[in-house]
Amino acid sequence: MTQQVDFARYLEAKEALDARSLHPRLWTAFCKRLSQVRQVLDIGCGLGATLDRLLTTDGLTPSTVSRIRYTGIDREAGLIERAQKRFAERTGAVFEVAEFFDYARVSNRGNGWPIVTAHAFLDLFDLDAAVDAIAGLLAPDGLAYLTLNFDDLTIIEPTIDPRLDEELLSAYHAAMYAQGWGGSGGERRAGRRLFHALTGKGFDVLDMAPSDWVIAPLHGAYRDDDRLVLEYLLAHIASVVRQAGRFGAGRLERWVAERERQIEAAELVYVAHQLDILAQRKPG
Ligand SMILES: C[S@@+](CC[C@H](N)C(=O)[O-])C[C@H]1O[C@@H](n2cnc3c(N)ncnc32)[C@H](O)[C@@H]1O
Repeated sequence: MTQQVDFARYLEAKEALDARSLHPRLWTAFCKRLSQVRQVLDIGCGLGATLDRLLTTDGLTPSTVSRIRYTGIDREAGLIERAQKRFAERTGAVFEVAEFFDYARVSNRGNGWPIVTAHAFLDLFDLDAAVDAIAGLLAPDGLAYLTLNFDDLTIIEPTIDPRLDEELLSAYHAAMYAQGWGGSGGERRAGRRLFHALTGKGFDVLDMAPSDWVIAPLHGAYRDDDRLVLEYLLAHIASVVRQAGRFGAGRLERWVAERERQIEAAELVYVAHQLDILAQRKPG
């Protein structure tokens, strides 16, 4: 039996995996723009992983890093409190407890942001509403750097029973945003849909590329904290599918037990298809 991984621990654990997965071409373009404007709003910031990546990247000069004015918002007070403690002494970063759509409504009265980032966040929402809110937050010519947008494909190998695996992952995709992860009617095909959601709302898409998570044991062991990520994801998939109620408890629990054994034996391979997108709001 694997251990229960809580959400904050999962966010910490996936930081290294996310850093390996972000598309480097878009990351470089984002860093380049940041060195020109330096101010960034990170929506759904969690524990501030994006700020941590900025502080440790090779893509920025030390003087730019020291002058980054970062603001992170998240609706979970516990995460914001931990982010504040994590960065308070090292940076002048601002972390605020705020609900994204409320924040966008209030901020529409104020100045626009030159850069808005959203990492592993946009697929939680109705995309058109989320893109409208981001457009309202951005200055004319402002940049939206939107990363790790899930795109309807989870691969788990080795196969246990091809039919059961397929049915189970389809049930997971169908219900994944109906509950949990704080969403409000999310979009399992957010990655591919984002391009037209943005161009339809006055954005130029500057680049788009995959940022798939690939978790594979190498030489008999998982990298970084990937094992914890897998334990969290497996429990999450099981909980979503259980609540969707399409599988008898015995079938689902046997599948979960076999997946747990595969993780324990460092046999399981997990791939999630995701897309990064960099877009600029057209002036006017
Ligand atoms: C999958 S996590 C990603 C967190 C962080 N960007 C990262 O990758 O480490 C999604 C985050 O969005 C936050 N969230 C969900 N709905 C929100 C909303 N309506 N307004 C603000 N934050 C929200 C959650 O609390 C959570 O921290």
